[in-house]
Amino acid sequence: MYKLIAFDAYGTLFDVYSMGALAEELFPGNGVALALMWRDRQIEYTRLVTMSDPNPSGSKHYIPFWELTIRSLRYVCKRMDLELSAANEKRLMDQYAKLTGFADSLSVLKAIKEKGIATAILSNGSREMLATVVESNGLKPYLDQVVTVEEVRLFKTAPQAYELLLQAFPVQKNEVLFVSSNAWDALAAKWFGYDVFWVNRLGHPFEEIGEKPNYEGKSLSEVLETL
Ligand code: LAC
Repeated sequence: MYKLIAFDAYGTLFDVYSMGALAEELFPGNGVALALMWRDRQIEYTRLVTMSDPNPSGSKHYIPFWELTIRSLRYVCKRMDLELSAANEKRLMDQYAKLTGFADSLSVLKAIKEKGIATAILSNGSREMLATVVESNGLKPYLDQVVTVEEVRLFKTAPQAYELLLQAFPVQKNEVLFVSSNAWDALAAKWFGYDVFWVNRLGHPFEEIGEKPNYEGKSLSEVLETL
C-alpha cells in the first residue's frame, strides 16, 4: 500500500548519542550529558530559526544544520564549563560527519528496495553532511533520494519541510510511510498527513499532544512488518 518509505536521518538511521563515547574520552565524566544536551540544543536552534521567520520562501535566520550543530556544541561546552579546543571540536565534528548507523539501517533499506518500494531520507541535515554520512554507512545504493530541508530553508517541523517528499516523488500523501525515532518528528509528520512509524528504541512514552503514531516498534527492522 505504501509507495514510499521515508526515513528521518539523525537519531533514526544514524546514532547521534554514539557521540557520547568520544565526548567521554575528551571530557571524562561528561560524555553522556554532553551528547544529550548537544542534541537538545541543536533541535532547539532549528526551532528558533524556523519559528522566528516562518516565511514560505525560507527563514532569514536559516543556518545550515552542519553549522548549527557546531554552534550548539560550542554553546553546550560553555554551558557545562568545558574548554573546547579547536582540535577537539574538529575531532567531534569529524566523527559527527561519519556518524555510526544503527545495526539494522542498511538491511532494512535493502529489504524495502527489494520489495520494489521507493526509499528516501527526509532530514534537517545539510546536503553535504547527509551525502557524507550516507556514503560512510554504505546506504547510498538503497536510497532513491536524500531530501534535505536546505531546499526550503525551514527546518522540520515546518509543513514545507514534510511537503518536500511530495515534490520529490510522484506519490500521494497517503502512500507515504514516514519513519522517525524522534517523537516530535513522528508527531509532526502525522499532523502533516503521513502515516508514521515511531522507532521507540528507549521505551519512552509518546508525546501527550497530537495523534498517536500508526505504528510503533523497538527497532527499524519492525518497519518491515508493516509492509
Ligand atoms: C533529522 C534530524 C532532526 O532531520 O533528526 O535528520
